[in-house]
Amino acid sequence: MKAGKNRVFIFDTTLRDGEQAPGFSMNESEKLRFARQLEKLGVDIIEAGFPIASEGDFASVRNIANNIKNSQVAALARTELSDIDRAWEALKDAAKPRIHTFISTSDIHISHMLQKTRNQVLKEARAAVAHSCGYTKNVEFSPQDATRTDREYLCDIVEAVIEAGATTINIPDTVGYAMPDEFGDMIAYLFDKVRNIEKAIVSVHCHNDLGVAVANSLSGLKNGARQIECAVNGIGERAGNASLEEIVMALETRKDVLGFQTKIKTKEIYHSSRLLIDITGIPVQPNKAIVGANAFSHEAGIHQDGFIKERMTYEIMTPQTVGVSEANIVLGKHSGRHAIKERLKKLGFKLNKEEIDKVFKRFKEIADVKKEVFDEDIEAIIAEDIFRKNDRYRLLYLNVVSGNATIPTATVRMEIDSSEKQDAFFGVGPVDATFATIRKITRTKHKLLKYQVHAVTEGTDAQAVVTVQVQYNKRIIAGRGADPDVLVASAKAYINALNRIESLKESNGKILN
Ligand code: KIV
Ligand code: ZN
Repeated sequence: MKAGKNRVFIFDTTLRDGEQAPGFSMNESEKLRFARQLEKLGVDIIEAGFPIASEGDFASVRNIANNIKNSQVAALARTELSDIDRAWEALKDAAKPRIHTFISTSDIHISHMLQKTRNQVLKEARAAVAHSCGYTKNVEFSPQDATRTDREYLCDIVEAVIEAGATTINIPDTVGYAMPDEFGDMIAYLFDKVRNIEKAIVSVHCHNDLGVAVANSLSGLKNGARQIECAVNGIGERAGNASLEEIVMALETRKDVLGFQTKIKTKEIYHSSRLLIDITGIPVQPNKAIVGANAFSHEAGIHQDGFIKERMTYEIMTPQTVGVSEANIVLGKHSGRHAIKERLKKLGFKLNKEEIDKVFKRFKEIADVKKEVFDEDIEAIIAEDIFRKNDRYRLLYLNVVSGNATIPTATVRMEIDSSEKQDAFFGVGPVDATFATIRKITRTKHKLLKYQVHAVTEGTDAQAVVTVQVQYNKRIIAGRGADPDVLVASAKAYINALNRIESLKESNGKILN
C-alpha cells in the first residue's frame, strides 16, 4: 500500500489485546458496536480478535469482518497452520482482510515456552507467512518479545518473513521492557540491517509495564516505523497497550516537532472512550490524559485566572478537538422530545424512532427525580435501555428493607427468558440481600470480586453507577448499572454481569489463554 512518507497507520487492538485483559470481555454484539465506532473514528486497521481462541472469538471476528467496510479487519493467529486457516475462515468475507500471525523469538520464550530451537521458529514463521499469503496479500508478522530477542536473529527472521510475503512487520515490546531510545534504536537497526525492509511497513506494539508505551511508540516512528498498534483507553494485557488517544493527540498537537499525519477523526476520540467504558463497565482514572474527567479542568486559582484571560495559558489542545462538547444546555423535566433527539445526535448516537421513544421515556423518569440530566446520564440510559435488548435476565421490581433494627431483606421480581419469577431473601446488608435474592432466582453461583459505586455527575441526586466484577470459570466478567437509586443500580450491575456470563456461555467460550 502506497502512502505519503509521513502517514502513520493506526492499528487498533482494543478488541483483541484489550479484550484479553481481565474484566474487559465483551460479547459479540458489544464488539460489533465498538468496531463500528472504531471505523467512525477512522482507524486504519481493527484487530477484531483471535479466532482459534474460542467459538465466541471466531463468531465476533466474522461478524466484524462482514460488517466493517472502511477499515481493514485483522485476525490474530499463531504460526500453526490450523490457526491461520481458522483466522481466514473468519475473515474471508471482509472488504479488507488482514491475517496477523505471530511467534515468540526471544531465547527465553523459545526455550521455556515453545521448547523449540531458533531455527525451528524461523522455519515456522516463514511457512506461516507463506501459508497466509495463499489467502491474502495483506499479511502481518509479529516476532513476539522482540525487544528481548537477539538482534541478529531478529533481523534474520524479519528478512525471511518479508521474503515469504509479509507486508507489515510488527515489533512488539511484549513485556513493556524497552526504554524509548533503546526501542527507537532497535527499529533503526532493522532499517539498517534487513536487506528487504523497504518492502514492508514497520509497525510497533508497545506495552505499558514501565509507563513508557506511548513514548516507545513515538520513538519507533521517529526511527522509521509507520504503523502503531494501540488501544482505546490504553487497555490491554497487564498494564495495557499504548493508548490510542494519547498517541493520536501527541501526533496532532506536536505536529511541529513530530511531523506525522493519521486519518483519525479526533472529534470521535472522547465518544470512543466513553463507549468502551459503557460496554466494559471499567472507568478510566480522572487524571487519564486526553479522556479523563480532569483532563481539561483547571482547579488551581492561578490556573483558572490565566485560563479565563487566555485559554492557551494552560491548555495545549481544546476539549472540542477530542469531542468533549462545550457547555451544553442542561436538560431537565421540561425538555421535550426534540431537545433529546438533538442531544443524541450531538453525542453521536444514531437511533431509530422506537429507540428514541424508549430513551425519551427513561429520560422523563430520571428527570422527574433529578433536577438536571447530563450527557453522562443519557449515555447511561443508552447503555442500559438500548444496547442490552437481548438480555436473558431483566430486573422488574426491587424492594429492600434495611436499617439498624431489621434483618436486611430484598424482594426481587425478574424476567427470565420472558417469564416472571420472584423471591425474597436476606443478607448482611441491603446490597448483599439484593445480590443473594438475584442469585436465588437465577440459580447461579459466582464469586463476587469487586463492587464499586460512582456518581455519574455531581450532587446527591446524581445517578449512581455501580460496577461489579464476578468470576466465571477463569474469566473475570464486569457488569455495570446506573440509576438514581443506588440499590437499583447495584441490582442492574449484578444482573448485567450475569447476562454477560450467559452470552459467554452461548458462544461456548473455549479460552486459549
Ligand atoms: O504483545 C504482543 O507481543 C502481542 C503480539 C501477539 C503482537 O500482543
Ligand atoms: Zn500485546
